[in-house]
Amino acid sequence: MADEFKLETERLVLRDWQETDARLFFQNTNTPAVMRWLDGVMDEAKQQAMLGRIASCSAENGFCFWIVERKHDGTILGFCGLKRADAPGSTVPGEIEAGWRLREDVWGQGYAKEAAIATLDVAFERFGADRVVALTVPGNTASWGLMERLGMTRRMDLDYVDPRFAEPLNPAIVYSIDKVAWEPR
Ligand SMILES: CC(C)(COP(=O)(O)OP(=O)(O)OC[C@H]1O[C@@H](n2cnc3c(N)ncnc32)[C@H](O)[C@@H]1OP(=O)(O)O)[C@@H](O)C(=O)NCCC(=O)NCCS
Repeated sequence: MADEFKLETERLVLRDWQETDARLFFQNTNTPAVMRWLDGVMDEAKQQAMLGRIASCSAENGFCFWIVERKHDGTILGFCGLKRADAPGSTVPGEIEAGWRLREDVWGQGYAKEAAIATLDVAFERFGADRVVALTVPGNTASWGLMERLGMTRRMDLDYVDPRFAEPLNPAIVYSIDKVAWEPR
């Protein structure tokens, strides 16, 4: 089995999932506000499917959407990390994709940006990415705002329609950043 992943930032720890994490994660993030642009609150089957995808991603790649834990009190804030893009209709299949989801009571404190910076650092430095993509939908201003604050570029040429969803969960909009653009930030 691969080594456990653990990465510290000033206020956060990004780490692999442990047995007890899922219950706390879903309790605080499987809410209408958090899931607004993610096809709504997940039922039990969807939650299990998500955990399965994270475990397989970790086993196959050594990275996944890691648990984000706040250092000073151990609170699980959500996840942030990497996967391989695999959405139906994707224009970037197999590329390293960054993603984030935090409980709503900690939004607006820079935690997502802090976790995302650490995530992009390891994408380029540890996992050999030449470029990292991130995906969202036009209405999810918090998510594409973060992509812009990270210095990612809006790639209208790569936008696509995910056939699983209707508007406003389409089109998928794509941002990207190359390793050469990230290093001198
Ligand atoms: C997307 C998401 C992770 C963004 O979280 P966030 O807390 O807004 O993002 P950041 O960490 O960058 O925080 C930015 C805000 O914190 C403020 N802030 C406060 N202290 C800060 C600090 N120390 N450093 C940076 N920003 C700070 C910024 O001014 C900014 O405020 P603003 O939104 O009023 O402009 C969050 O909205 C979320 O979980 N959404 C639901 C799930 C989702 O849709 N995920 C994306 C799917 S594509």
